[in-house]
Amino acid sequence: MKTTENQNITNRKLVTTADGSPSISDGRTGETFHSINGAITESQLVFINNGLEFFKTKNDSQGIAVLEIGFGTGLNTWLSLLKSIEWKQKIDYTALEAFPLDIALAEKLTYTASVEKQLDKQEFMALHLSEWGKPVQLDEYFKLTKIHQDLRQFDVKTDRFDVIYFDAFSPNVQPELWTEEIFSRLFRSLKSGGVLVTYSARGVVKNALRSVGFSVKRLPGPPGKRHVIRAFR
Ligand SMILES: C[S@@+](CC[C@H](N)C(=O)[O-])C[C@H]1O[C@@H](n2cnc3c(N)ncnc32)[C@H](O)[C@@H]1O
Repeated sequence: MKTTENQNITNRKLVTTADGSPSISDGRTGETFHSINGAITESQLVFINNGLEFFKTKNDSQGIAVLEIGFGTGLNTWLSLLKSIEWKQKIDYTALEAFPLDIALAEKLTYTASVEKQLDKQEFMALHLSEWGKPVQLDEYFKLTKIHQDLRQFDVKTDRFDVIYFDAFSPNVQPELWTEEIFSRLFRSLKSGGVLVTYSARGVVKNALRSVGFSVKRLPGPPGKRHVIRAFR
């Protein structure tokens, strides 16, 4: 492992958030992977309800193509997989991650504890153990492609995705990712009518999104956050 990469994945620790679900604190940025006010609560509202579910209710698609920026704990991926099964909806899911979580740390995440089936834990770990860089059909409905790459180098295809979950660390600590240059590429990667959802409703984020062509809507946030964003192509 290269020294720079090592610096990015050490100093990560398991934490418990206010709704009882776990997250990871990241020593390098000083941030947690999710809101400390509730990891599952935040992911469910910001990405699943505002993004995936919103898109599904507005479109009668055979399959939904999702791009996640920052695979991390796999929580957004896991909640999306559960929805694909519940809805019998094909989802083609691409997850980008520059600094993958240690498998030993991923093992400690208990997102599946409420569902008392060992199989669920195995399915959750299958997300983490699935090979990088190639599509893996995890079940009848859910295809996962994990890409081990920095967003700044990611060569994203035009008109490829329906929904983007933008879940990098905050603009305070990763200003280089919340830029017009990156949002412009993501805008082009969305199909017409596609949506990008994210948890930061800061002025710099809204302005950057608008300046590259997105229509931006502010929505009520999860506990501890007044607003979050849904942006449309
Ligand atoms: C706020 S965490 C969210 C992770 C994930 N969505 C989850 O639910 O656990 C941000 C993630 O983005 C990843 N990341 C940081 N910089 C990145 C970059 N330049 N390109 C791609 N991913 C990056 C981090 O390693 C981390 O996993």
